[in-house]
Amino acid sequence: MQTIFQTIKDIAIKIDHAIKTEDLGYSDSSNASGEDQLKLDVKSDYIIEEAFKGVDIVKALISEEKEGVLELHEEGIYTICYDPLDGSSLADVNLSVGSIFGIYEGEPRGENLVASAYVVYGPRIELMLATKEEKPLHYRANEGLFNLIGEVSLNEKGKLNAPGGTQQYWSDYHKRFVESLFAEGYRLRYSGGMVPDLHQILLKGGGIFSYPGTTDVPKGKLRQLFEVIPFAFMYEQAGGQAINDKGMRLMELIPAHPHDTSPCFFGSDYEIEALKEAYGIKA
Ligand code: AHG
Ligand code: MN
Ligand code: MN
Repeated sequence: MQTIFQTIKDIAIKIDHAIKTEDLGYSDSSNASGEDQLKLDVKSDYIIEEAFKGVDIVKALISEEKEGVLELHEEGIYTICYDPLDGSSLADVNLSVGSIFGIYEGEPRGENLVASAYVVYGPRIELMLATKEEKPLHYRANEGLFNLIGEVSLNEKGKLNAPGGTQQYWSDYHKRFVESLFAEGYRLRYSGGMVPDLHQILLKGGGIFSYPGTTDVPKGKLRQLFEVIPFAFMYEQAGGQAINDKGMRLMELIPAHPHDTSPCFFGSDYEIEALKEAYGIKA
């Protein structure tokens, strides 16, 4: 696993360089979810693929930017599912973006995730690594080296509310839930990039990030293997909770297709319990 983590550090430095120096425009292709790809999405995907080609414990790769499974090493143990550049449409307005990695042993599904990682490309490059043994570890890069800042733990209750999805298409009970948090004094924090938004909640001690099913997109937008499950693991390891709109742990998701999405809620205990009540989810 340390080889995979070292490879992710090398990848982070290269993608950060690409973000800072390369063309921010669109390519002429689209991805498996039908979204137009930026040149940076394609470049980041290429950087990751090339890096893991040299790591023989990696059996296969599944990328948000590619349709199928890329088999790498027959004798490998891990399948890495990744979003090469999350929030890439924010690069041209100079907001933070990220990369997300889910490391699975066996079939890629929630219960088989053994580690996850994400990188934030902001004013600095930051990295969070989570394994089953410990709380997520937070690193910051300085001149190409990642220094450990410390372990990350969520408080029982936070102050931040990051509500995703098009508000016009929210259900009435979701609207009431979001409004009830603001009425309690929660502050809106939503950049439109799940990596910096979820990172902020983790580091500021708590709150909730939601991306519900909506009338236009009933199963939500965020993809299970590359976005939802890796962050669910981070939040649970930090002492928080991560569930879908039925109250099921996101770590129990079994995608039928690599690009399947799920409604998702990540937060500290207090906010997730409030969500369950608002959604009529029995304990
Ligand atoms: P990607 O850039 O990989 O397609 O994903 C962007 C995601 C996520 O980062 C963010 O939380 C969400 O899309 C924002 O969606 P809305 O614009 O619908 O809020
Ligand atoms: Mn994404
Ligand atoms: Mn992406």
